[in-house]
Amino acid sequence: MGLVVLASASGSPGVTTTALGVALVWHRPVVLVDADPVGGSALLAGYFQGTVSDDDAMVNLVLARRDGRLADVLPRALISVPGTHVSVLPGPKSHAQAGSLSELWAALAYELRGLEETGQDVIVDAGRLGMVHSPQGLIRAADLALLVSRTDLPALAAARQWAAEWTEAAQDGTGAGSVAALLVGPGRPYDASEVAKVLALPTLESVAWDPRSARVFSEGQKPPGSAWSQRDQLVRSYRATAAAINQRLTGERLTMSSGGVR
Ligand SMILES: Nc1ncnc2c1ncn2[C@@H]1O[C@H](COP(=O)(O)OP(=O)(O)O)[C@@H](O)[C@H]1O
Ligand SMILES: [Mg+2]
Repeated sequence: MGLVVLASASGSPGVTTTALGVALVWHRPVVLVDADPVGGSALLAGYFQGTVSDDDAMVNLVLARRDGRLADVLPRALISVPGTHVSVLPGPKSHAQAGSLSELWAALAYELRGLEETGQDVIVDAGRLGMVHSPQGLIRAADLALLVSRTDLPALAAARQWAAEWTEAAQDGTGAGSVAALLVGPGRPYDASEVAKVLALPTLESVAWDPRSARVFSEGQKPPGSAWSQRDQLVRSYRATAAAINQRLTGERLTMSSGGVR
C-alpha cells in the first residue's frame, strides 16, 4: 500500500519503538527500514538484544547501487523477524557511515516503493530531523510522513517548525505526499485536538503511554503473560495507529486515482 516514514523533531519520543510496534501488527508483509543517521541500530541492539546483525548491509547496497544491481541485492539485505511477517533492513552502523548514504536513500526509496508489487509495505525509522545525514531521499519519497511527538510544550515547540516545513513541502510537491502528527502519550498534558491546533497538522490515532510495555519493543524485554499482545493497551493502540495509517494511505490513493494531485 505504501511507504510510511516516522521521524521526530526533538528528544526521543519513541520513533523506533513505534515504528517497530506498528510493523509487528501490520496487516500484511512489511519491511522496517532503519534509516536513523545516528547509526548503531537501536532496533537490533534493543528488540533483538544484539542477537542479529549485518554490518555489511549498507555497504553492500551502496556497491549494488553503483553497479545498477540494487533491486537484486535489496531482498538479500532484509532480515526476517521470526514468527512475524516483518523483515528489517538494518541501518547505518555508525554516524560516519550514514554520511555516505545520502544518494543511496533516494535510489532505495524507488526500490522500496517497488516492493508494493510483491505485496509488501514499508515503514521507515528516519530518526530525528535536522541531523546532517537525515535520510531526505526517503522522507521526500514517502506517501505519508509522520511527525512523532510527545505532547508537552517543549516537544510541541520543536515539532511546530517541522510541521510547517513538511506541510509546505507536501503542498509544493517537494516533500512527502501527505503529513500528519503521531502522538506518543496523548494527554500528557495536551490532547490530540489541542496538539493539532498548535502544530497546524492533522493528528493520527495516538500511541498509548505505557513505559513498561514499551520496553518490550525498545529493549527486547519479555512480555509479561501469554495473552499479552491481545490485552495490552499499547498493542491495541499500535493496531489502531496501523489502521489509521492504512485509511490515510487508501484515501491518498483514491484522491490520486480520481485525478487529484499530490
Ligand atoms: N508508548 C510509549 N509509552 C511510554 N514509553 C515509551 C513509548 N514508546 C517508547 N517509549 C520509551 O521511550 C524511550 C525512547 O524510545 P525510542 O523508540 O528509542 O525513541 P526514539 O527512537 O524517538 O529515540 C524508550 O525508553 C521507550 O521504551
Ligand atoms: Mg530511535
